[in-house]
Amino acid sequence: PTKDNSIVQKRSVSCRTAPNIALIKYWGKRNDELIIPENSSYSITLSEDDLCTHTTISMSPEYKCDTFYYENVKQKEIPKRMQHLLDEIRRRTSKRKLDNDHFSYLNWSVEIHSHNTFPSSSGLASSASAYSSIAIGLSTLFEDTEDGTITPTCSYLARIGSGSAIRSLYGGFVQWYHKDPALSECMYPAEQWPELRIVILVFNSKTKPISSTDAMKRTTQTSSLYKERLKTIDEKIEQLNLAIKKRDFENFSNIVMRDSNQFHAVCMDTYPPVMYLNDQSKHFIQLVHEYNNASKITKVAYTFDAGPNPFCFILQQHLDEFLDLIKYFYPAQTQHRFHDQIKTMKLNRIPTMCAETVNNIDNIIKNIKQPIQSGKLEQVILTKIGTGPKIVVQKTDDTLATSSL
Ligand code: DP6
Repeated sequence: PTKDNSIVQKRSVSCRTAPNIALIKYWGKRNDELIIPENSSYSITLSEDDLCTHTTISMSPEYKCDTFYYENVKQKEIPKRMQHLLDEIRRRTSKRKLDNDHFSYLNWSVEIHSHNTFPSSSGLASSASAYSSIAIGLSTLFEDTEDGTITPTCSYLARIGSGSAIRSLYGGFVQWYHKDPALSECMYPAEQWPELRIVILVFNSKTKPISSTDAMKRTTQTSSLYKERLKTIDEKIEQLNLAIKKRDFENFSNIVMRDSNQFHAVCMDTYPPVMYLNDQSKHFIQLVHEYNNASKITKVAYTFDAGPNPFCFILQQHLDEFLDLIKYFYPAQTQHRFHDQIKTMKLNRIPTMCAETVNNIDNIIKNIKQPIQSGKLEQVILTKIGTGPKIVVQKTDDTLATSSL
């Protein structure tokens, strides 16, 4: 009851979750409906201060039907997977022993508002942040988990929204287990590696030629290389976990780049082949190897999900030099739009630039054979590891609870 003793007639929850980047890729399902993965996967959650999906879900007996607003625009219908989540949370709620208050929620419609703080053109898959947000929102509302606990229902909802969404339920370094597909967990928090930076290079912001869902299905049906890949995943995850534990950038990079390359080789071995990398992606892969070679240490690592845009990992002390390299090899064709952007983002988002960076980029460039690619880079996004979802619950106008997951 509220202060005037009337029953609460509206409940809402707001949640912010960030996308994650797979270091060891999830690819292929044992069960398409339940989204049970063929292999374990491992990811890094990005900083929700830089990139996130902001979702507000409210429920009220006054709403006539369930509605979904994306970027403030009311959608004609609820997407199929989102409808699954709504059906599932109501099914689970109806099975619980409920008091009268809770029982009434079952007949209330919901309104879901979803907004991304990163441009949809950034090449980042937003389904992981979107569905992890909705899963947290729905489970908080229907299960009354105001402290932000990730319940089994929450994990289940995120997973049936999009497999990779189950990893965005936590910050830091996260593993999702194929032997226990209901489980994802934080292996190391964001603080484990504070110097690690992530640079996203957007070469092409157009949507991908084939969705991950359809492509991975084709891979499991046609690729023999894929079967070989599955045998090596658990071992790779173990090694990666160790590299992160020791903050061993050399080994970390080696494992991450090789997994990305193997994943795209498996895509190529799919029949008909799936090609996510484009000429720019390949140019960049060569550039990174030549840059690391010329530097005599591994300074940067790349990984590509189901798209042509690289996610780069680099330690803070090498960031300035790497951005100089990028500016040199991918100059803007007109004006200095993207150079200005790098500068702005550096100043705004990464306040602690290392003053000791020795700028020996000219010496390094002499040893790189790759051609300059003018006007090919659309955007650069700098970010770091995130600490995980943030949630605000609002039951009545006068009750506000805030918690951090
Ligand atoms: C290449 O999670 O988008 O990004 O479960 O069908 O929704 P569905 O697929 P999704 O696949 C992600 C594929 C990937 C690798 C990864 O994130 O692990």
